[in-house]
Amino acid sequence: EKGGYEHFMLKEIYEQPSVIKDTYRGRLLANKGIIQMAGIEDNLEKFLNAERIIIVACGTSWHAGLVAEYIFEEFARIPVEVEYASEFRYRNPIINPKDVVIAISQSGETADTLAAIKLAKERGAFVFGVCNVVGSSISRETHAGAYTHAGPEIGVASTKAFTTQITILTLISLRLAKAKGTLSNSDFHRYLQELEVIPEKVAEALATNDIAKTIASIYKDAPNCLYLGRGYNFPVALEGALKLKEISYIHAEGYPAAEMKHGPIALIDEKMPVIVIAPKQGHYDKVVSNIQEIKSRSGKIIAVVTKGDTQVRELADHVIEIPDTAEALTPLLTTIPLQLLSYHIAVMRGCNVDQPRNLAKSVTVE
Ligand code: F6R
Repeated sequence: EKGGYEHFMLKEIYEQPSVIKDTYRGRLLANKGIIQMAGIEDNLEKFLNAERIIIVACGTSWHAGLVAEYIFEEFARIPVEVEYASEFRYRNPIINPKDVVIAISQSGETADTLAAIKLAKERGAFVFGVCNVVGSSISRETHAGAYTHAGPEIGVASTKAFTTQITILTLISLRLAKAKGTLSNSDFHRYLQELEVIPEKVAEALATNDIAKTIASIYKDAPNCLYLGRGYNFPVALEGALKLKEISYIHAEGYPAAEMKHGPIALIDEKMPVIVIAPKQGHYDKVVSNIQEIKSRSGKIIAVVTKGDTQVRELADHVIEIPDTAEALTPLLTTIPLQLLSYHIAVMRGCNVDQPRNLAKSVTVE
């Protein structure tokens, strides 16, 4: 049932090219310039009239929501707030009938997310679900939704659920951008084409497995680890750190790279591995200067870079190359080596990768 893989987690990591494709199949018609999802088409007016989108989720799904915040604001120009469901539900939040709430949940059973949905509904918001498990409580409680087609995720650490959530949310924001005219025609078509070839690029990113394993063998005994990224890849840094802590029990923190100098830089010494997500687009130059700051304090730098990168390669102790893509889609690729790195470190430390201590696959109590 593990399909020849040693653990479900590894199998699920390797399934990502095909489940991302399953998630956009029939919804993304790149050559025709069409994105269609029943849940969006049926409620298009609600989305187009939305003054704000509030995303509620927990854990890795919350990280997917953060990536979506960047994508929705950039593509569809709709203000987005991303909330931990557990905080949102107890805060007496301000919710207006013109708010659209998107709840993201792999299991569809997370107690806090479910409670946040009920509260938003009571206050008149339209609530849209992004779930993986068909017929789950959250998929039934929401007004409409779109399923990720990741298939059953058995490993407790979320992997393919995360990348398929990002895929769906990207499709939604592109659909809205088209309706609102907030992306140029050429950009819209370019994103559709890029999204269509993403599965092949994810497959290429999986070829970093050997280097991830080598890096894992060097840093497996580190007591701490720092993950840095900017823009679209800031949430990927958070997700990379979560993946490492939950399965390997190494303390890890994710930060927006620019926040370094506001505190975390004090932690850097020659024993601290720092994983920096540095694809060539966007804030590349700024990330390079962040890397220089780490290097001058003797931190160990593991950088995820775009294939062919030379500048970071000169500074970093290790580089992991991923294929080039549109900046907004880089999280789908940069995530992959971080999953592999955590996996190998956990295996080398003798941890129970698929069922880490103290964790449950669905958190049905608050
Ligand atoms: C991390 C992880 C958890 C879940 C969180 C939300 O790998 O699996 O952080 O992401 O418990 O679960 P869902 O998405 O089922 O609501």
